[in-house]
Amino acid sequence: MKMQLKVLAGILSIVLFAIACEKTMPPTPDESELLDGPIEGLNTAEQAQFLKGDEAFGDVFTIEKGLGPIFVANQCASCHAGDGKGSPFVRFTRFGQPDTLGNQFLSFGGPQLQHKAIPGYQPEQLPSGVTFSDLIAPAVSGLGFLDAVPDAELVALSDPNDADGDGISGRPHWNTIPNYVTLRPNSISQNGKYISRFGKKGGAYDLLHQTSGAYNQDMGITSLFEPIDPYSGLEVDPEVSTQTVHDVVFYLKTLKAPIPRNQDDPDVIAGKQIFSQIQCASCHTPTLTTGFSPINVLSNKEFHPYTDMLLHDMGSGLDDGYTEGFALTSEWKTPALWGLGLSKDAQGGSYFLLHDGRAMSIEEAILLHGGEAEQSKTNYTQLSNTEKEQLIKFLESL
Ligand code: HEC
Ligand code: HEC
Repeated sequence: MKMQLKVLAGILSIVLFAIACEKTMPPTPDESELLDGPIEGLNTAEQAQFLKGDEAFGDVFTIEKGLGPIFVANQCASCHAGDGKGSPFVRFTRFGQPDTLGNQFLSFGGPQLQHKAIPGYQPEQLPSGVTFSDLIAPAVSGLGFLDAVPDAELVALSDPNDADGDGISGRPHWNTIPNYVTLRPNSISQNGKYISRFGKKGGAYDLLHQTSGAYNQDMGITSLFEPIDPYSGLEVDPEVSTQTVHDVVFYLKTLKAPIPRNQDDPDVIAGKQIFSQIQCASCHTPTLTTGFSPINVLSNKEFHPYTDMLLHDMGSGLDDGYTEGFALTSEWKTPALWGLGLSKDAQGGSYFLLHDGRAMSIEEAILLHGGEAEQSKTNYTQLSNTEKEQLIKFLESL
């Protein structure tokens, strides 16, 4: 009898504990409130590789694992927390003289400032008087879709000589590419250059290029692809395996696209129309379509990133004096706006927008648009207050 009572009491306490937990634990956020997680419909092998990549993305590098000697951070996730945008507190700096002779500051540790070092080594310091650019991390969700857009679609969106006379003349970033990347199906080249599309100035050809560069420049981790140690300038053995790099690339490719919210709200619907009317959609292209991808769920899919992945001259206010590849100092690749409304979750509760995080609200980001976006910005300032609110509500729903 006593025994039975004890068991009963035990069960009761478990039940009570479970009820209490349900009350005190915060409710699980809806899928649409989170940026991380895989695209639906991956097969079992793909899910397994996604998980391996996810783990590697969060892996903390130590001296034993090859960190440094100089570095910026010790894991991908420290700048891309929750796969979302980074904040100015974890930004990094690139520096050097972007003249026709190339970067004159490579011997001072350029192009990227590794401001931390393991014990016994000196971190880098910004040489005085040098041109430099501060960059915050973009969100990494939905990148597989952007990666699978055929070059021809980007060429079709571009208008390098502004033939249609609307003042907007986006161009693909025709860039030299590293020998280890695999060309996209039906890739287009111009004078030996290819369209590169990742990074704020579109300096990286694909996610392998971006990832190997990040291991090397952000963490001081060498790979078969980028074997030069940023401290010694010498080729060293890979500190991260080729398989791990591929797993991380696969993870980035199969992170789900941000899920829009409140799409039936009348203000959001009105805001979406205004977005097109005042020319925002001329650069922040609402819909793109992927071509063939060996990852089945990415093949021939329509999606809504709100970017054309082209370079635009954004005027002197956003000119950072620093360039990458063949982009001008005033040129930036249109950032995707999907996930915009969720970005402050990863940024500590407030917005930090534009390449260096200088804009603390969506409106401020719009008002800092210049150059090719000057007219569009002026159109925004001429909206009524209600229309402005509707536009912002729409942007926050993405
Ligand atoms: C110190 C902070 C930091 C770390 C660590 C870091 N990143 Fe980034 N990441 C950035 C910044 C800043 C950018 C924008 C750089 C640019 O425009 O070239 C960026 C850009 C990217 C992009 C391009 C996204 C796009 O939309 O074009 C990808 C992909 C990416 N990082 C993946 C990674 C991976 C994978 C790792 C780890 C191997 C990593 N990052 C480590 C800060 C970081
Ligand atoms: C000429 C092309 C162009 C037009 C037109 C344009 N944008 Fe942009 N937009 C950009 C580029 C390029 C950036 C990135 C600039 C930077 O980082 O310095 C940007 C950045 C932004 C950002 C910040 C995104 C982030 O992740 O930091 C928002 C928000 C935005 N645009 C909204 C709008 C809205 C709303 C309109 C219409 C009023 C508009 N844009 C018109 C090209 C354009």
